[in-house]
Amino acid sequence: MMGGLGRIDGVVEALEMFRMMSRKGVRIDSISLSAVLSVCAKGGEYDEFGCYENGDRLLRNVVLGEQIHGLAFKLGFERDLYLSNSLLDMYAKNGIMKSAEMVFHTLGKPSVVSWNIMIAGYGQKGNSGKAIECFQRMQFSGFKPDAVTYINMLAACIKCGDVDTARQMFDNMSCPSVISWNAIISGYSQNENHREAIDLFREMQFQSVKPDRTTVTVILGSCAGMAFLEGGKQVHAALQKAALHTDNYVAGGLIGMYSKCGKIERAEHIFSSMPELDIVCWNSMIAGLTLNSLNREAFMLFKQMRQGRMLPTEFSYATVLSCCTKLSSLFQGRQVHSQIVKDGYESDVFVGTALVDMYCKCGDIDGARKHFDMMPVRNIVTWNEMIHGYAQNGYGDQAVHLYEDMIASGAKPDAVTFIAVLTACSHSGLVDLGFRIFNSMKSEHGIDPELDHYTCIIDCLSRAGHFHDAELLMEKMPYRDDPIVWEVVLSSCRVHGNVSLAQQAAEELFRLDPESSTPYVLLANIYSSLGRWNDVRVIRELMSEKQIVKDPGYSWTEHKEQDTCLFVG
Ligand SMILES: *[C@@H]1O[C@H](CO)[C@@H](O)[C@H](O)[C@H]1NC(C)=O
Ligand SMILES: *[C@@H]1O[C@H](CO)[C@@H](O)[C@H](O)[C@H]1NC(C)=O
Repeated sequence: MMGGLGRIDGVVEALEMFRMMSRKGVRIDSISLSAVLSVCAKGGEYDEFGCYENGDRLLRNVVLGEQIHGLAFKLGFERDLYLSNSLLDMYAKNGIMKSAEMVFHTLGKPSVVSWNIMIAGYGQKGNSGKAIECFQRMQFSGFKPDAVTYINMLAACIKCGDVDTARQMFDNMSCPSVISWNAIISGYSQNENHREAIDLFREMQFQSVKPDRTTVTVILGSCAGMAFLEGGKQVHAALQKAALHTDNYVAGGLIGMYSKCGKIERAEHIFSSMPELDIVCWNSMIAGLTLNSLNREAFMLFKQMRQGRMLPTEFSYATVLSCCTKLSSLFQGRQVHSQIVKDGYESDVFVGTALVDMYCKCGDIDGARKHFDMMPVRNIVTWNEMIHGYAQNGYGDQAVHLYEDMIASGAKPDAVTFIAVLTACSHSGLVDLGFRIFNSMKSEHGIDPELDHYTCIIDCLSRAGHFHDAELLMEKMPYRDDPIVWEVVLSSCRVHGNVSLAQQAAEELFRLDPESSTPYVLLANIYSSLGRWNDVRVIRELMSEKQIVKDPGYSWTEHKEQDTCLFVG
């Protein structure tokens, strides 16, 4: 009875049943304890976002589970393997891996089931390293993995984005279910390996496994990712045959596929012929319009959706805010903002970050900061957007201040943070500060500078005329052979009239990128700014001799300053 109640989510009823049983003095055996433990394991399962659905329920379950654990010990069942596995399962499902490990170590002889529970527990926590370690230890102790082991390992690896290991597990399954197929296919799709996702989809059909709505939606995503319109159309046709095309979830995938392949009319046709629209369809259609630069239309559709009393999700707000950004329409952005407040999404970190981004990109940096300060929770993207906003709007000092606030608040900067703050230093001429921050990347924050970071700091140093420091850094850096760094140096040489270094940089560029006209143009510009017309002529002759054609983006007289360090978010 308890087991049955547990299975249909009658958690409270099952626990009541257990109390009644104790009160009536019925002898409690290991089967009844296991049944009630499985009920305690139930509430702890994660929702689709990997969060516990309900913190209170979790706590209650763990407290109860621990009581049952104590009771089992008192009744002398600690050697019962079946019961021990139920205990393991209860702790693992509730995410208390420390307690699960303790129970595991007291097992005299674990079974395959015990190992499987441990692997699933680690997988659920996103700790694929531990799951793999368990998997190896299990085999080392002489156990042969079974079907469940492979399924649990597959799930663990996919959750952590380790598709290669996941594939090994998948290949060892004798008869994978559609769920396992979906797991591996969406693993590839999420890793942008669309080719492999589509190949597996074919393979799945060869093996007569019937795809379900999840499979086709993932495949539509992969067709979109590859701009493989023909494939998408084939899936569409198959869906119509199977009468699955009016499924909201699938329709969302179709709308996304057609919009990403540039067939916005077909997407709109599907959208308008749906008998009933849910939020997935609306979101796909709005995002599709934005993707095709139909930002005004996307904004109108969002309004229409609100008028139809459909409640937007975080994703809808982020999409429509990006429309406002692209339209440079602060007015519309503010309208959406007040909508967000009305709908009660203001304190959502994802939506809030999109708002900060919108205000920054529309040039209302004070508005962005005001909202930033009001946000109850910020994540790394929020900080990065705000710092980057200051940098792009020319407020270098503020960007650095905010970066320092961020460090003081205990938030951990990432590679993108440093691009933002170094860009700020470069644009505002904060050389010493920039250099200090650059040097702290590895020593204080454990982040290896990448090409973009080097480019930023070298840009910063050479813009300020600190050519010697820039050279020292370039000698040490691993990206010496990347043209972008030399281009940055060459541009600054013009500003400072440093002919000798300019010549050296140009030589490097001739070597690294012989086809490019950039170094010729930049060098000629330096000579002409110094009135060295003879040298200018030599360069032009060299160019025609080597048949280098001037890139139309570069002008002979003015080399427009490039923003070398961009892209946050
Ligand atoms: C898959 O099975 C083969 C043969 O049974 C075995 O040699 C191999 O180690 C297994 N791979 C994994 C990842 O378990
Ligand atoms: C030009 O750059 C070199 C480093 O290569 C430096 O020593 C020199 O002082 C610079 N000259 C000017 C005018 O900035």
